[in-house]
Amino acid sequence: MTHQVRIEGTDHQFDVGDDESVIDAALRAGLMLPYSCRSGTCGTCKGDIVEGAIAYPDGLPPAIDAKEDAAGKALFCQARPASDLLIRVAEVREAGAIQPQRLPARVEHIEEVAPDVRRLFLKLPRDKRLAFLAGQYLDILLRGGQRRSFSLANAPHDDERLELHVRHLPGGVFSEYVFTGLQPGALLRFEGPLGNFFLREDSDRPMILMGGGTGFGPIKGIVEHALHLGVTRPMHVYWGARAQADLYLDSLPREWAARHPSVLYTPVLSEPARDTAWEGATGFVHEQVLNDHPDLSGFDVYMSGPPPMINAAREAFTSAGLPAERLFYDSFEPGGD
Ligand code: FES
Repeated sequence: MTHQVRIEGTDHQFDVGDDESVIDAALRAGLMLPYSCRSGTCGTCKGDIVEGAIAYPDGLPPAIDAKEDAAGKALFCQARPASDLLIRVAEVREAGAIQPQRLPARVEHIEEVAPDVRRLFLKLPRDKRLAFLAGQYLDILLRGGQRRSFSLANAPHDDERLELHVRHLPGGVFSEYVFTGLQPGALLRFEGPLGNFFLREDSDRPMILMGGGTGFGPIKGIVEHALHLGVTRPMHVYWGARAQADLYLDSLPREWAARHPSVLYTPVLSEPARDTAWEGATGFVHEQVLNDHPDLSGFDVYMSGPPPMINAAREAFTSAGLPAERLFYDSFEPGGD
């Protein structure tokens, strides 16, 4: 039987199915409630039941005692609604509200999506999940205290596996390992989530989302999150790459655009000579954005890619009327090395 849960003080509500926790259902609905362990031991997800009743299928979890339970407190990662609910809990809207964790993860599989790009899928231990906002990144922890940063390319509602896009950087400590030695089953350690690059949901302005190379990864996470939420704000997605083979998931944004009238997709190649059949846009991706949208004063812009792209675009976009506080970006060296 399905029950409806409303969050006090907001117009957010979602359905919770049989044998589903409040947190799992909220994530499925694209809402981010605070959580960490998702196993009833840390207490991060604790909130209040204002109206209604809950049950714990395996008895009271360790992070809540009988007194708190009787006072209407609940652990939403374990609680199953026994009726419709009105709950009091702070939704996560800022990256800083999520405490980064250090976790192990197993490489589940590796996809060769381009000659120099691998798509890694990581699986966390069974009782662990990573709370994050679409677009944030994590640091892979290496021997000797070194770390390498990679954006999360999956959306929070789709968190069974974490997805990273890794570009080959010859000689790069981690990327070299990914391309020459890393096998499914390998164990990695990481810290995350990190960073302030995430979708601002309190705006109704149209968005431009621009990725350069593997900077498409966090753009993918943000767009998938927005579509899952049912956001209808126009989203113009740009993907800048050297050649056609570097648009390693080109069919995906094409599918978004085909299915959602709010999404436009423009791939842009900077070195298309090798792609004789290419009839799309060419040049620098940020210049294509300005060709299409010479006045950016009414937009929110999200961009992720290598520093030269970010620096050139930052200056050009603010000169085109984009207020600096509506420009969100993630600047990284390819491969993070
Ligand atoms: S998330 Fe840790 S107790 Fe619920």
